[in-house]
Amino acid sequence: MLYFWFLPLLTVVHSKSLPSSGSLCEKGCDCQGEFKFVNCSNALFSHIPSNVFPFTEHLDLSQNQLTDLPTGAFRALRRLRVLLLNDNNISAVATGTFSPLESLLRLDLSRNHISYLREGFSMGLGSLKELLLGENRLRSLDHGSFLHLDSLLRLNLSGNAIGIIKVRAFGHMTLLRQLHLEDNKLSSLGNGVFSMLKSLEVLNLQGNRINSTEVGVFTPLTSLALLNLAHNHLSTIRFKTFLSIHTYSTHILLADNPWSCDCDLQRVFRKLRSIQRLFLDDYYNLSCREPPELQGYRLTEVDAELCIAETVTVLIITVTVLITVVAAIVMAEKTRKKRTGKQWCEDTNVAYQYQS
Ligand SMILES: *[C@@H]1O[C@H](CO)[C@@H](O)[C@H](O)[C@H]1NC(C)=O
Ligand SMILES: *[C@@H]1O[C@H](CO)[C@@H](O)[C@H](O)[C@H]1NC(C)=O
Ligand SMILES: *[C@@H]1O[C@H](CO)[C@@H](O)[C@H](O)[C@H]1NC(C)=O
Ligand SMILES: *[C@@H]1O[C@H](CO)[C@@H](O)[C@H](O)[C@H]1NC(C)=O
Ligand SMILES: *[C@@H]1O[C@H](CO)[C@@H](O)[C@H](O)[C@H]1NC(C)=O
Repeated sequence: MLYFWFLPLLTVVHSKSLPSSGSLCEKGCDCQGEFKFVNCSNALFSHIPSNVFPFTEHLDLSQNQLTDLPTGAFRALRRLRVLLLNDNNISAVATGTFSPLESLLRLDLSRNHISYLREGFSMGLGSLKELLLGENRLRSLDHGSFLHLDSLLRLNLSGNAIGIIKVRAFGHMTLLRQLHLEDNKLSSLGNGVFSMLKSLEVLNLQGNRINSTEVGVFTPLTSLALLNLAHNHLSTIRFKTFLSIHTYSTHILLADNPWSCDCDLQRVFRKLRSIQRLFLDDYYNLSCREPPELQGYRLTEVDAELCIAETVTVLIITVTVLITVVAAIVMAEKTRKKRTGKQWCEDTNVAYQYQS
């Protein structure tokens, strides 16, 4: 009886809310909350379905077989706030694909095959707070990559192949709080790369190949709370690189780097550790790669000895200089005495000659 009572009601709801797109919720998508939440995860789509409802706010298209995102794919979805496209085979994103998505807050493109971002990639994404691009195939970032992401708070670029970041690649992201660049192929960091990121709190650079950093590269990061440089190729660092981080407190991770343990390095770390606003959290885990006889030792085990050779050298030089100076004084004194003695003799001789 109840069943018969329900049936017409369901039919009415369906025919009213599903203009022509009733099929979407039957083709492997789960629709909830009056089609505000549409979950098409793992539904074997190879194209963006054209019949998504215009009032959908959360659209999950993860784990499908999408390969490209043509212009217009999301034309009718202005209400979208969350769009999940992770775990597909997307390699091409056409210019302006996302431009209708002016309310979008979260875009997940993790684990796709994207190898470059066109200048128009971020067009329309002025409200976006979180962009996930981890585990793609990006190799470089330039000034057009993220042009329109003015509201972004979190950017995840981990697990790509990024080797080059051009100056101002993170352009106008003055609100960005977290930047995840771990497990990429960066080898050096030049000034200007992080120039506008004055709200950045977390900068994760772990697992790259960084062997050199320009002295001013972290200076613009005036909110930085965590700088992770662990597992890179740093053998030495310059004191000024970290001294120029002007924050209230910043934690720095530096373990798993091939440190070249010499007196210079020891001095840099001694000075760094005396700066109250900097915290070298894994200082006790830093280990030496060079010189060969110290390989595998922790820096803290050997740091008392690192400057001994230098101290001895300095001592030897000082002693040598002292001896030379003393010798010179003695010699000078002797010469003076000889000369005055001779003079006296000559003078008396003269006097004697006058007398006689
Ligand atoms: C969509 O459904 C899958 C299971 O089919 C689930 O794992 C996933 O969390 C759902 N997505 C959302 C956004 O709720
Ligand atoms: C997606 O990529 C995976 C792994 O690269 C591959 O096995 C699969 O055939 C691809 N699917 C499509 C539809 O291209
Ligand atoms: C960034 O993305 C990677 C993979 O895509 C994920 O494993 C990692 O947890 C993400 N990091 C954060 C902080 O969300
Ligand atoms: C740093 O690494 C790059 C690329 O691996 C290399 O070409 C360069 O010589 C290295 N520089 C130093 C100072 O080791
Ligand atoms: C130091 O290394 C040990 C083991 O290698 C690890 O368990 C510990 O968490 C590390 N400590 C820090 C502060 O990284």
